[in-house]
Amino acid sequence: MNKTILITGGAGFIGSHVVRLFVNKYTDCNIINLDALTYAGNLENLRDIENKANYTFIKADITDENAINQVFAENNIDGVIHLAAESHVDRSITNPGAFIKTNIVGTINLLNAARNSWKENSANKRFYHISTDEVYGSLGDTGFFTEETAYDPRSPYSASKASSDHLVRAYFHTYKLPIVISNCSNNYGPNQFPEKLIPLSINNIKNNNSIPIYGKGENIRDWLFVEDHASAIDVIFNSGKIGETYNIGGDNEWTNISLIRMLCKVMDKKLNREIGASEKLITFVKDRAGHDMRYAIDSTKLKRELNWKPSLTFEIGLEKTVDWYLKNDTWLKNVISGEYEKYYSQQYTKR
Ligand code: NAD
Ligand code: TYD
Repeated sequence: MNKTILITGGAGFIGSHVVRLFVNKYTDCNIINLDALTYAGNLENLRDIENKANYTFIKADITDENAINQVFAENNIDGVIHLAAESHVDRSITNPGAFIKTNIVGTINLLNAARNSWKENSANKRFYHISTDEVYGSLGDTGFFTEETAYDPRSPYSASKASSDHLVRAYFHTYKLPIVISNCSNNYGPNQFPEKLIPLSINNIKNNNSIPIYGKGENIRDWLFVEDHASAIDVIFNSGKIGETYNIGGDNEWTNISLIRMLCKVMDKKLNREIGASEKLITFVKDRAGHDMRYAIDSTKLKRELNWKPSLTFEIGLEKTVDWYLKNDTWLKNVISGEYEKYYSQQYTKR
């Protein structure tokens, strides 16, 4: 085998698409997926590649320093693609501590393990940290986040991700650890846990339950299909410049309410419902505390320097996503049992 690449959080939404891409594309590399399998991690996401010769799964928690050191001691790791994180803003509002542990302490454990293992022999190594546009804060009606935008995180989630980004950059400047960082906008697509806006809405429409829209639904997000994020990660991991940051986005801004109206139309068509039937499920609920108004990414640097671009339009991506959720009913049923029901009633019934 050529190289060994450690992908953390590979059983989650984005991580599973990255693992699949790397296992199938780099058959001469060992791909290790390290994941604690929290509520958000699901090995079902990787059934199609789990028996491939170049794939290994390790169940480990990045907050466990000894376990992480052991993984580095036992494997000759050439590259890290770090996606493991607590990732849901609403959960960070209820339980910030878990975000500090995983997103900050977990990241420092990985940085230390890489640094100790690579020492001065790091010329061909790479530590790639996956982050979010939410570290830049919230935009008004105009403007975009660039790689130069000052950090201004405003939720416990984004503050913990900002903190981990700072640590990764500090290890580059202080210890010359060969790092690269990307900050991406909102992802959507198959395998996303149905507590995030799009899969939650698909599931609720399917079951004729209300679609909870925070506030007036005027907040804006910039949506990117998950496989396009995975292709950007591939390009940046292989060709990004050490020490650099790349913003990834879809040039695809939607207010939440117009996105959900469009989704309702797609669902009416797919479920053979009367046009307008799903829209009747829209329910405006109490706003999220500290709800960021607008995110929008300028990904000129990535497009210009590394020649990346998204592969599909939002209309096609959304339809693909809906088709996947309607076809994968068992996946959906499995992930929304038990803990999900408790989460859902705590998050929504008291609003
Ligand atoms: P996710 O919540 O779907 O998956 C996270 C994965 O990390 C899960 O498999 C989970 O089991 C694992 N994990 C959590 N805590 C862990 C721990 N302590 N040790 C080991 N594994 C642990 O998240 P996602 O949406 O796939 O996001 C992946 C990464 O991409 C995160 O770093 C997130 O900040 C970033 N990101 C996400 C988006 C988005 O729209 N979802 C956008 C930009 C950046
Ligand atoms: P989400 O998918 O949680 O992503 P993020 O907060 O990281 O952007 O939410 C996307 C947008 O949808 C955000 O503005 C909050 C809003 N939202 C709702 O209106 N209702 C919901 O039930 C959820 C989960 C989100």
